[in-house]
Amino acid sequence: MCGIVGYIGNQKSMPILIGGLKRLEYRGYDSAGIATICNAKLVINKQKGKISELESSLRGVNNDGTIGIGHTRWATHGEPNTINAHPHACCNRKFALIHNGIIENYAILKKELLEKKHQFESQTDTEVLVHLIEDYYKQRSDFELAVRKALQRLDGTYGIAVICSDEPDILITARNGSPIVLGISDGEYFVASDPTAIVAHTRQVSYLDDNEMAIINRSKMVIKTIDDRPVEKRVEQIAFDLEKIEKGGYPHFMLKEIMEQPQTVYDSMRGRLLEEEGTAKLGGIEHEIHSLLHSGRLLFSACGTSWHAALIGEYLIEEYVRIPVEVEYASEFRYRNPIIDRNTVVAVISQSGETADTLAAVREAKRKGAKVLGICNVVGSTIARETDAGVYLHAGPEIGVASTKAFTSQVTVLALMTLLLARMSAMSASVGRTFVKDFKQLPEQIEKILKSRELIKSIADRFVHKSNFLYLGRGINFPVALEGALKMKEISYLHAEGYPAAEMKHGPIALIDENMPVVVIATKDSTYEKIISNIEEVRARKGKIIAIATEGDDYIKTKVDYVIYVPQFSEFLTPILTIIPLQLLAYYLAVKRGCNVDQPRNLAKSVTVE
Ligand code: G6P
Repeated sequence: MCGIVGYIGNQKSMPILIGGLKRLEYRGYDSAGIATICNAKLVINKQKGKISELESSLRGVNNDGTIGIGHTRWATHGEPNTINAHPHACCNRKFALIHNGIIENYAILKKELLEKKHQFESQTDTEVLVHLIEDYYKQRSDFELAVRKALQRLDGTYGIAVICSDEPDILITARNGSPIVLGISDGEYFVASDPTAIVAHTRQVSYLDDNEMAIINRSKMVIKTIDDRPVEKRVEQIAFDLEKIEKGGYPHFMLKEIMEQPQTVYDSMRGRLLEEEGTAKLGGIEHEIHSLLHSGRLLFSACGTSWHAALIGEYLIEEYVRIPVEVEYASEFRYRNPIIDRNTVVAVISQSGETADTLAAVREAKRKGAKVLGICNVVGSTIARETDAGVYLHAGPEIGVASTKAFTSQVTVLALMTLLLARMSAMSASVGRTFVKDFKQLPEQIEKILKSRELIKSIADRFVHKSNFLYLGRGINFPVALEGALKMKEISYLHAEGYPAAEMKHGPIALIDENMPVVVIATKDSTYEKIISNIEEVRARKGKIIAIATEGDDYIKTKVDYVIYVPQFSEFLTPILTIIPLQLLAYYLAVKRGCNVDQPRNLAKSVTVE
């Protein structure tokens, strides 16, 4: 989704802004631009396409400006072109503004501004705001007041940064619904929608909350609410290293993140397993564990990959803890009238902690009086801050748009939660201890699967000209089938559908012929015999079968076209293993098809608009 970066200090701002925008590329975008103030004049450069194109258009440009803002746009209002790219300027070109979010009442405001003879260049909602600021500035020539008054007129969401050529020593930023992080250094400040954009310069940060703005000059930063009440902020440390957001020798972030999973799954478990007691410890939800255990119902809400992790959570918790669990897309949850009583605990799952629909679900659940837990990866993210309690994944920054390591960490955390709750109810210490042992073996088992990547690559090569894929799984591996299909769609642009294997005969079986590749998760578990029957049904219709099977299962070789083995493992944790070959299959197929794996078309890493 859109990315924001801003700088005020004593260095030239342009290279800092371009560097920051490059770090934000992974979020997904279609155009980019920067604005600086140079010799008391606003200088704006924008380009459709990649940051490298913006960068080359600036080669040789002499710009000494030490204040500036930059933006990567992911189109919502108006097509992706140079005119619609941010920053936007007002009529007299005193103000330049970048915006992430959606201004819902922009049409009414635009009409009002057109009547006052403002001239608009773009089709965006954002441009309305910069003209509105100009309008208020004409009344009092007060930059801060003009921004404040304009923001008070907005309906919708925003993370903004704005500069004014009359005030070359002030940068103003504000937030309502779209994240803004403020980076603090000696005599200089940074603004960004995501700490990755500024971690190369400083680790000291503060986060704006909704309805707050920061008025920043080179020596200080003042934070207030939009209605002008002072706010005290904590300064925090960014916890990850720069190398964590670089590719480290891999051709793509996605492959790097797939390969990191032995470590990231380990990091999600680190310090959380109690071997002796055969249980888990999750400090972040310690105080809520009793309300969770005695809740009549647990409701998971999430989007995309996180929603698939939630489905696995449902299987785990219902099986081992016997609490009824429901899983609902956050976008559906927020717009119906879900039944949430005192006995319902809501848990949201979000890698970024910023997904607009998931955040809205948090707020709706809180409004209805529910206790809300958050399972997030990004430390300090909005969802992490707004939930009553929660668990961090500790998977490190995930840059690839298609989520991989966050998924396995989400399932790991859900499994830890299950173990903890099960041990507080019906599970014995000895069974708990076997679970702990299984957890501990996970990194090594993932490592083994990663060694099959040449085989997976060669299988991917054979399917590169197909246009459809069917993914089948049963039980706890049904959500894995959904997630495998999602990976394929996201990065290779091939149509792929996930189905519970038995459901196939109620529709998708009609699609099966010799051109249809069918990926079946057929590990030796409680549903093995059943899935073999489903494999027979596909075979009878000449479908090409790729099976994810358990090491040592030679029988399956006689039934399918290709086999990728995963180690024999406890059923409880198999999704963390079975998803790995599916991630690699999607990755190698997309690479072979020449797709832009890290920045798939039309997708964004963090969907901060609904
Ligand atoms: C986007 C991303 C997906 C992600 C989903 C939910 O669509 O491309 O990879 O699963 O948002 O994101 P969240 O950060 O809430 O897990």
